[in-house]
Amino acid sequence: MAIRNIVQVGDDVLRQKCFPVESFDEGLMRLLDDMKDTVKKEKGAGLAAPQVGVLRRVVVVDMEKEGYFEFINPVILAQKGEQTGWEGCLSVRGKSGIVSRPMKVKLAYQDRTGEKRILQAKGFFARAVCHELDHLDGVLYIDKATHVEKN
Ligand code: CO
Repeated sequence: MAIRNIVQVGDDVLRQKCFPVESFDEGLMRLLDDMKDTVKKEKGAGLAAPQVGVLRRVVVVDMEKEGYFEFINPVILAQKGEQTGWEGCLSVRGKSGIVSRPMKVKLAYQDRTGEKRILQAKGFFARAVCHELDHLDGVLYIDKATHVEKN
């Protein structure tokens, strides 16, 4: 387990489309373990693999209420409603912005063993899921924000 360096906005790796995970091997386990250490240390709500320089469809989300999640090859199956609120990103240090997101999402993903799962998220959890999934397609919240300011 190790803390990985977080790539900052301006680096091209954050603008790439990530590849699906095909083998649930040792390298994936190490990536997931390191992402956990890194997001906990940084006290982030989530982290996507491209933020540590890895172009794979892997995200982690760490919620005070719902708990800690690992999503591999995640896909949003359905979304409902809308919420507008403040968001930040570990790759955009010192800033926050106002972004509209769905209020609820239904997500299909694989866990670290490769097993397929479905999950429903709402409120801030749904916001975090949408934010992290955007990273997998090279999208940052600042692309969608109606307002961004320095903290
Ligand atoms: Co982010």
